[in-house]
Amino acid sequence: MPAQIIDGRAIAKEIRENIKREVQELKEKYNIVPGLVTILVGENPASVSYVKGKQKTAQDLGFYSVEEWLSENTSEEELLKLIEKYNKDPRIHGILVQLPLPRHIDERKVIYAIDPKKDVDGFHPVNVGKMIRGEPCFLPCTPYGILVILEKIGCQVEGAEVVVVGRSNLVGKPIANLLMQKRKPVGNATVTICHTGTKNLNFHTKRADILIVAIGKPKFITADMVKEGAVVIDVGINRIGTTLEGKAILCGDVDFESVKEKAGAITPVPGGVGPMTITMLMKNTLESAKMWNRLPNEIEK
Ligand code: GUN
Repeated sequence: MPAQIIDGRAIAKEIRENIKREVQELKEKYNIVPGLVTILVGENPASVSYVKGKQKTAQDLGFYSVEEWLSENTSEEELLKLIEKYNKDPRIHGILVQLPLPRHIDERKVIYAIDPKKDVDGFHPVNVGKMIRGEPCFLPCTPYGILVILEKIGCQVEGAEVVVVGRSNLVGKPIANLLMQKRKPVGNATVTICHTGTKNLNFHTKRADILIVAIGKPKFITADMVKEGAVVIDVGINRIGTTLEGKAILCGDVDFESVKEKAGAITPVPGGVGPMTITMLMKNTLESAKMWNRLPNEIEK
C-alpha cells in the first residue's frame, strides 16, 4: 500500500497560526513584540533562499524582524561585533547566523559569540549541553520539527528502532540524542546512527521502524533499503537543477518515488521537514521573548 505522505506544510501552518495568535496577545496584553535578526554572509543561493523564507515568516507572524546581509568578504571581527550589538539589543530575542559561513570565518567562534539566551538555533554549546542533559533549552529547529512531525502523525516512537543516517551537528547528532531520551510524548526509542564509516548500511536501514536521513546526497536511500511500513523522514534538500523560469528543482536524500510504495509514511521534499524548520525557529523566538520578559516559557521552566 502506498505511504501516507506527511504534509509538513499543513502541520507547520497550524503551529504558525497558534504562534501568530500568541504574538497578538503578547502585544495587546504586555506590549511585547518578539524580535529576530537573521545574519547572512555572502550569496550562497540556498542560504539566500532559506533566509528569505525565515524573514517572510517572521514578518507574517507579526515579529519585529531585522535582516543583515553582509558581503562575502566581511571579516570575522566585523561579524563578531555585529553579534555583540544584537546580544545587547533589547528588541532582539533571537539571533540567527545562517550557516555555512565563508571559509575565512571560524564558525565555532561565531556560534560561541551568540548569547545562549538568544540562540534560537540551539547551536551554542550551552544549549547543546542542556539538550543532552534533557533540560529545558532552545532545541535545534530541524530536530525539533521532526519531533513535532512524529508527534502529530501519532507515530509509536517509544520502543521503536530508529535509524539516523548522518551525524551532523545540525541534524543527525541532536535528533538521535533526543529520540533516545525518555522524553514525552516522543522519545524512548532504540537509536542507531549510521555514517560514512558504517560497514553495511542496508542492514541497518532495513531494520528501521523510523528512518531519518540527513546526508545531503540526492535520492540516496532507495526502496530496497527500507522496511515495509517504515516511517521515513527525509531531511535532505538537494538542488538538482533549475526550471526554465529559474526556480530551483529540489529533491531529498530519499528516492521518494520508489520509497513511497514501500514505506508506511514519508515526508516529501519540498513540503516535508523544510517548513517545520522555519516554524520551530519562530516558536523558539516567541518563547525567547517570553523568557526575556519573565513570562512563563518553555526555555527556562
Ligand atoms: N544552515 C542550514 N540549516 C540551518 C539552520 O537551521 N540554521 C542556520 N543558522 N543555518 C543553517
